[in-house]
Amino acid sequence: MKSDLKKDVTLNLKALPSHVAIIMDGNGRWAKKRLMNRVKGHEKGSKTVRSIVAAAREFGIGTLTLYAFSTENWARPKPEVKALMMLLKRFIVSERQELLKNNIRLNIIGQKKRLPPDVQKEIDTTMALTRNNNQMVLNLALSYGSREEITAAVRKIAGKIESKDLNCDDITQDLISAHLYTHAMPDPDLIIRTSGEYRLSNFLLWQAAYSEIYISDTLWPDFSKSEFIEILKNFQKRDRRFGKVTCNTSNDG
Ligand code: IPE
Ligand code: IPE
Ligand code: MG
Repeated sequence: MKSDLKKDVTLNLKALPSHVAIIMDGNGRWAKKRLMNRVKGHEKGSKTVRSIVAAAREFGIGTLTLYAFSTENWARPKPEVKALMMLLKRFIVSERQELLKNNIRLNIIGQKKRLPPDVQKEIDTTMALTRNNNQMVLNLALSYGSREEITAAVRKIAGKIESKDLNCDDITQDLISAHLYTHAMPDPDLIIRTSGEYRLSNFLLWQAAYSEIYISDTLWPDFSKSEFIEILKNFQKRDRRFGKVTCNTSNDG
């Protein structure tokens, strides 16, 4: 496993994004192409999750956020939602030892309370067991929607103004960030979306202000560690200007 990374001289392990977020899309189409039920695509997709978490940890990425279930995904057919929840629970339980062994902390962003109680229970157990781990944060976006997240933040801030714990003048960008599910982490440097769709689908809208975006045509169940390495190399060639002018592009001196 380690050897292909060592051989890869062009990936600079010292200039990795500190936060990578992935919109894991295309499970259904992967199954459809094989005339299989969509759930088979989700099953295969959860195996990809396992390998990409291991790869991110091996590279030394600090935070990996995976969009696993959106607030809008509740509107899918009941059997599919049920199967996704079952797979989620299975993943949380089966990966517990792996997360502990690899010093990875599990965190959830999204409406955890909307998940079935048995899933919440397993999440709470894994979160408690891994809470002191400090090599990587695995952030699962579950029942996550950016507009819901921002709405909830506005509601919390308004409540603090109502109770006179805050004044209107205290509302800053940092204060808003501090009221989001992602309050304790850096904004994503890189957002990857698989399956060739060019949209964010309600994912990290506030946090993505200056994220680099990479769209891959690969369907999530086929996504691999080697493609992940290629995307990280692509990221390392980008010129992130944050609205400014970089020295090598300025010729007005
Ligand atoms: C992503 O795959 C998984 C979830 C959104 C839960 P999809 O299920 O959206 O797969 P496609 O987009 O239908 O191929
Ligand atoms: C985005 O994928 C959500 C997740 C990957 C969990 P969707 O498949 O739900 O997004 P749309 O419907 O194509 O925008
Ligand atoms: Mg999809």
